[in-house]
Amino acid sequence: MARDRRDSYYWQAKRDGYRSRATFKLTQINRKFEVINEGDTIVDLGAAPGGWLQIAKELSGGRVIGVDLQRIKPIDGVDTIKGDMTADRTIEKIINLVGKDGADVVICDAAPNLSGNWSLDHARSIDLVTSALGCAKKILKPQGHFVVKVFEGDMFKGFIDKVRNNFTYVRAYTPKASRSQSAEIYIIGKKFLTAPLRKGDEFEVTIKKLGSSGDGAITIEGFVTFVKDVEVGEHVRIKINDVKPNFAFANVIERL
Ligand SMILES: C[S@@+](CC[C@H](N)C(=O)[O-])C[C@H]1O[C@@H](n2cnc3c(N)ncnc32)[C@H](O)[C@@H]1O
Repeated sequence: MARDRRDSYYWQAKRDGYRSRATFKLTQINRKFEVINEGDTIVDLGAAPGGWLQIAKELSGGRVIGVDLQRIKPIDGVDTIKGDMTADRTIEKIINLVGKDGADVVICDAAPNLSGNWSLDHARSIDLVTSALGCAKKILKPQGHFVVKVFEGDMFKGFIDKVRNNFTYVRAYTPKASRSQSAEIYIIGKKFLTAPLRKGDEFEVTIKKLGSSGDGAITIEGFVTFVKDVEVGEHVRIKINDVKPNFAFANVIERL
């Protein structure tokens, strides 16, 4: 890197013994969104050279696993896997290390090789983050958190909608430590949803009882769902409009 592009975060990382200036991005994200807590099991996808791993270990003190195409030089108390995060074989290795309880947090700062062609780089970034989301869905505990870097472009909205479909709380955020000319933006998804329902799903149901709030209270695939403006005995078509970790809300779209 040319000397004139080295900024204060670069020198601060060097001074503090961190492997990358990217460490400050994770610190800033965590300060704002509190994704990493003490004792957490954390998986870092695209982790080399290991700055995020150092911070993740410091913040959680728990099990930390880093995955990268490149070899990651050892860090005390951190497991590393050399492999392609988009490959099933690598995901199997991660699952073996994480164990049956799953991970509390999946973080992904992976970046494709940049070609300089904006739309190609954006498309490659979307492929990579889609794989990261797929991996997170396989390894996260219910209510776990997800942080992922995306390069902005026209497919950004489609991707953030996919994250919204799987997490209760979703925000896009650019930490101060991101370079001002960078197109990168981080998506933070909190509270991984394992409910069998998704916003927009439709069902035909019969209301058998009301909950204490007066809404219809039904169970769909074992999941409690509250339906507005219904009476006991009504047969209705409903649409799910919000999914929380332990229950969902729906509106009537047709009285049958
Ligand atoms: C910006 S660096 C990550 C920096 C890291 N957060 C840190 O603080 O040191 C992006 C990394 O993503 C990795 N990467 C890109 N595609 C990958 C893939 N398919 N599987 C695993 N790692 C990948 C690259 O090898 C590179 O090391």
